[in-house]
Amino acid sequence: MPKISQKGIAMPQSPIRKLVPFAEKAYAAGKKVYHLNIGQPDIKTPQVALDAVKNNSLDTLAYTRSEGSDTYRQKIADYYKRNDIFVNKQDIIVTTGGSEALLFAFGSIMDVEDEVIIPEPFYANYNGFSTASGVKVVPVISKIEDNFALPPIEEFEKLITPKTKAILICNPGNPTGYLYSKDEIKKLAAIVKKHDLFLIADEVYREFAYDGEVHYSILQEEGLDEHAIIIDSVSKRYSMCGARIGCLVSKSKSVIATALKFAQARLSPPTLAQIASEAALETPQSYFDDVIEEYVERRNTLINGLKEIEGVKVATPKGAFYCVVELPVKNSDAFAQWLLEEFYVDNETIMVAPAGGFYSTPNVGLNQIRIAYVLNQESLLKAINILKEALKVYKD
Ligand SMILES: Cc1ncc(COP(=O)(O)O)c(C=O)c1O
Repeated sequence: MPKISQKGIAMPQSPIRKLVPFAEKAYAAGKKVYHLNIGQPDIKTPQVALDAVKNNSLDTLAYTRSEGSDTYRQKIADYYKRNDIFVNKQDIIVTTGGSEALLFAFGSIMDVEDEVIIPEPFYANYNGFSTASGVKVVPVISKIEDNFALPPIEEFEKLITPKTKAILICNPGNPTGYLYSKDEIKKLAAIVKKHDLFLIADEVYREFAYDGEVHYSILQEEGLDEHAIIIDSVSKRYSMCGARIGCLVSKSKSVIATALKFAQARLSPPTLAQIASEAALETPQSYFDDVIEEYVERRNTLINGLKEIEGVKVATPKGAFYCVVELPVKNSDAFAQWLLEEFYVDNETIMVAPAGGFYSTPNVGLNQIRIAYVLNQESLLKAINILKEALKVYKD
């Protein structure tokens, strides 16, 4: 039989999706499952975006330019200007989700065996994208006790080798909910300049900053033009995960010219979804104000509820819509599976993401889970109660 590649064998399963077969068995048995495992918001997509698709008069669904349609890129540049990020449409490549932007970024700046330093826990698919690109993830541990703040910059410096090409951060963080301060971004800027590295910032949750905190983008930092690469997406901003539209942004002409070659190889980002995403940029500020208010309430409900459960530790997120929760269990993989297979309160259970997959250091985070607070308050309260009752009876 022809053999599967070593790279294929090494590709990690997504910790967010790997328990799906157990959830499916639970549905088949007539159970209700509260999905705390995946960042799929229940918030409505802005009507302007949906209408733009419904009302368009295209008679051929053609390719667009590889870098994305001209009008859409101009409007994205205008959006950034409104957010004090001064870029032109030439600095933007529209991609099939932030996911493809990450792949293009890795492909453009790193060769096989090059290294990227990432504070962990990190968005689990960074492991997958690194494996797909043959790149080595070098983790620097951030701690729940510090709310997952940026580890001391000396810890990064210790890890830099001749193979290091980039530092990758997610701001605000998935799964940590941590929002890096201006000061922390400045420290990162200084170190990438000193060692001549790229700084990739995944800013797909930019709008989701709470408690009056203001997001500070790496592209607002002076002197980083040749170093900074932003990963962005409409998925969470407009609750348009299924549109599959994102972008890669950089002032570096060589990064953009290289990423464009990857973009040309896959021809074009999806045409109808670009139409929806362009219209989504007209979304009024009131939509975001309502959404942020809703997430703050959900976060407060969740964190307050979790803090009341004995043996549970949680950091308070300042952004995005996730938190990492430490549980009094040894193996959260087994616990998450047990919840789906064996534990129900009134025929209902929860699905959570075991946090081990959000680390690249082996055997770290095994007693942690990630919770996405993408459900309404009533469902969240029920979910917290299920977790509380489950921990009373679970035996490792
Ligand atoms: C931090 C982060 N980056 C990138 C992505 C990829 O998003 P998409 O490909 O839907 O734009 C996600 C999705 O959950 C994410 O959480």
